[in-house]
Amino acid sequence: MCGIIGVAGGSVKTVVEGLRRLEYRGYDSAGVAVVDGEGAMWRVRVADGTRSVEELALRLADGPAAPVTSVGHTRWATHGQPSEHNAHPHVDCTGRVAVVHNGIVENHTELAAELAAGGHTFVSDTDTEVVAHLVEAALAGGADLPGALAAALRRVRGSFAVAVVHAGEPDLLVAGRRSAPLLLGTGAGTSLVASDLSALLGEADQLFTLDDDQIAEVRPDGVRVTTLAGDPVVPAALSVDPAWDLEAAQKGGYDDFMSKEMSEQPRAIADTLLDRRGTDGRLVLDELRLTEDDLRAIDKVVVVACGSSYHAGMVAKYALERWARVPTEVDIASEHRYRDPVLDERTLVVGVSQSGETLDTLEALREARRSGARALVVSNVVHSQMAREADGVIYTRAGPEVGVASTKCHLAQVVALELLALSLAQWRGTLPTEVVTALVDELHLLPQKVADALGRAKEVEAVAEAVAGARDFFFLGRHVGYPVALEGALKLKEISYLRAEGYPAGELKHGPIALIEPGTVVVAVVTRGAVREKVLTNVAEVASRGATVVVVAEDGDTTAAARAHHVLWTPPVADPLLSPPVTVVPLQLFAYSLARRLGNDVDRPRNLAKTVTVE
Ligand code: F6R
Repeated sequence: MCGIIGVAGGSVKTVVEGLRRLEYRGYDSAGVAVVDGEGAMWRVRVADGTRSVEELALRLADGPAAPVTSVGHTRWATHGQPSEHNAHPHVDCTGRVAVVHNGIVENHTELAAELAAGGHTFVSDTDTEVVAHLVEAALAGGADLPGALAAALRRVRGSFAVAVVHAGEPDLLVAGRRSAPLLLGTGAGTSLVASDLSALLGEADQLFTLDDDQIAEVRPDGVRVTTLAGDPVVPAALSVDPAWDLEAAQKGGYDDFMSKEMSEQPRAIADTLLDRRGTDGRLVLDELRLTEDDLRAIDKVVVVACGSSYHAGMVAKYALERWARVPTEVDIASEHRYRDPVLDERTLVVGVSQSGETLDTLEALREARRSGARALVVSNVVHSQMAREADGVIYTRAGPEVGVASTKCHLAQVVALELLALSLAQWRGTLPTEVVTALVDELHLLPQKVADALGRAKEVEAVAEAVAGARDFFFLGRHVGYPVALEGALKLKEISYLRAEGYPAGELKHGPIALIEPGTVVVAVVTRGAVREKVLTNVAEVASRGATVVVVAEDGDTTAAARAHHVLWTPPVADPLLSPPVTVVPLQLFAYSLARRLGNDVDRPRNLAKTVTVE
């Protein structure tokens, strides 16, 4: 995820050091804008992947020694590919206003059109640039810099944090936010703003939080905070555990990146859903590149992926077939490559890959293109190898995932694939518009439901404690509960090193039920709908053979609870097809609790790499 650091009355070195501390978040380019005491503004931007901050430091080594006002940024691309011209800060037409921005400006297309019609010239592909031009327009209308930022933020929809400097204001930096973090710090003769505590640790004597729709005026001698309407507010002081070192701050107070990233899942889903509805209410996948006609012409979808991404692809099969009525296969990428698949120009091959670099998935997409099929990738990394080579792309906007075991990216993939399925349904006319709208409305409820499921971590921990000591786990599910079961088993294997099998519940009696004995733990995902009763029957079968049964069940499902020894309750989701991002959460927490109890390093499980670029 992008990072912001800004300083008023500080050294350029403080900004560079701040950027270094933000690197852990993952980024593809970096930049700073500096306003010196003479009122001159200059900008340095580098798009050299994870070397960008180092290169920036070299280029700034001869910068002014005197205090400056400056904003810096590490960018994780969402709109526009990683490149120098898309790197932040972005400037207005005069080159005197410089803006850094985290998050997404949802209505940037309409704002850019309006501003362009008013004579503003855009030079980047980012959503950020509209903020610089909105500030410019408000300044031209007579506002001061804080007022201009407030005016800009009143026009902007989405979730964001921004910091702005102006060449004519060498002692002032202004910042604002909505639903994205921004912290303020004050010290002797220097004040700071940052998106992440790690950039402020040791740099400020006092820390404050900025709330939604507040504007901070950051000056060398302190900060002043107002509402967007200009009314002063007293910012809330932030006290930091004195024991926190840089690593603790980077984990945001969580014990590890995995728990931090699980907590970010509601935001990952919300961001993936942002900006997907056009003004007429129809779905738009901006970055897609493929046209509606291209997609109307397809008669088969083949999803290829590995690991957790494959499980997301399995959920997509149900959605694509149900909603878009298009026959869909899901294949493990390493298998797909060598099975001589039947693909032609009417096939859409969808690669699902958090990294966009996994070799097997990449090769499967290449094979698809050689066969004349259309290749689409769902990736979390803008301009990844797959995104560059495929005919089309949908980006998940989960932000970088540091923990090796995928959590937030998996949930974002499921949501992105469901958006694809609904878009296809809309374009192919297989669902009435009002049904698509209702389902998209329901998708928008998922962040809240996922947050609710995450809030039950203590109860999950208690269940994990009750079964701790078991060595054999089965995860069962049917329909979309099946990929959820597979994902639950994979999480447990990866981080706890316990034997865990994911199985379609109905298939158990065709062999694996022989393995069930007292002491085996069976976790069953009881999804609402046609298969619910059947899963409950399967649960009874294993219970009668002595298994310890844990069910994942919706609140109020007392029948399911009566069949189990333990229940992992989840908030209800009206359409079962939309339930996987919610039902998988207790399974992530379950695996996490068991792994922690065993003392394992959940962020860096043994033998695993985050990105697998070998066969
Ligand atoms: C599981 C996990 C892996 C990845 C798989 C594919 O927690 O992280 O199974 O899902 O290696 O990686 P991507 O999505 O980068 O292609």
